[in-house]
Amino acid sequence: MYVVVGRRVIAPARVTSGWRCTPAARASSMLASRPDAFRANSTSSERRLTRVVSRRPVYGDALASFRNTGAVECGHSGLAAGSRGVCAYASLGPMPATDQIEIRRLGVTEVYAQLEGLAAVLVDCVEGGASVSYLAPFSHEQARGAFEAVAVEVEQGRRLLLGAFEKDELVGTVQVVLAMPPNQPHRAEIAKLLVRRSARRRGIAQRLMAQAEREALAEGKTLLVLDTVTGDSAERLYERLGWTRVGVIPGYALYPDRRPCDTTIFWKCSSS
Ligand SMILES: CC(C)(COP(=O)(O)OP(=O)(O)OC[C@H]1O[C@@H](n2cnc3c(N)ncnc32)[C@H](O)[C@@H]1OP(=O)(O)O)[C@@H](O)C(=O)NCCC(=O)NCCS
Repeated sequence: MYVVVGRRVIAPARVTSGWRCTPAARASSMLASRPDAFRANSTSSERRLTRVVSRRPVYGDALASFRNTGAVECGHSGLAAGSRGVCAYASLGPMPATDQIEIRRLGVTEVYAQLEGLAAVLVDCVEGGASVSYLAPFSHEQARGAFEAVAVEVEQGRRLLLGAFEKDELVGTVQVVLAMPPNQPHRAEIAKLLVRRSARRRGIAQRLMAQAEREALAEGKTLLVLDTVTGDSAERLYERLGWTRVGVIPGYALYPDRRPCDTTIFWKCSSS
């Protein structure tokens, strides 16, 4: 099986038993059964999400395959537990108040309303040295402009944006890129997982990812891909969540200070 990332075609290192993916077959069946898959439909998305989640365990097999690979032994119960409403960090003991964090998908109106908060999170991450497309110096206005472009795509149904809120303050965000070529209707990309430095190491990114995967599946996206800086906290997170590591591309991007950084490509597939 091959995964297309941007213009590249990549053969995954392996497809773990019990977690096989046949995207082409799934795509054609999805097109037959869900001709609306590409339409922007934020008003009915919650309804569809409820229906899909209740119909089958979301990514349940992913956790099994993740355990089989023995990729990470961190004691976190991962996405399958999260999707069933169980605390994903139960084994970590007392935690900061992550229950005060609300994760939700933002409609286009709310994306515009949250532009300042989204820009602040992005600037904070770039100032912290994150390689997320931008170079230093990176201004609040540039960050705001970047999210204005995202808002347009949200409005067009080409992209989803989730926010993590603590007492109404936006502390994290992630995007799901829905718009793909006609022959990849079943695929989406996860992008720009960002948590502001003051809110990190509380499981917010894990919760954002769990929700992003559920939202993607509710949109009919059964194959997800992403890339991330090699050796970073995010790479460990994706491994914990059952993503399959394809490989590393050396010198793929730059850090904000222009040092080169390697990138790891991941994919994840739902069972259906
Ligand atoms: C990567 C990033 C999103 C992670 O956000 P986060 O909210 O801190 O992520 P989590 O809290 O889910 O997990 C981070 C770590 O905290 C730990 N953790 C989570 N909850 C915890 C808790 N209650 N107590 C102690 N540790 C906890 C996790 O085990 C993990 O540890 P590890 O890094 O040693 O593997 C954040 O660092 C970030 O925004 N980085 C810059 C942008 C970036 O690189 N994004 C990725 C682009 S693909």
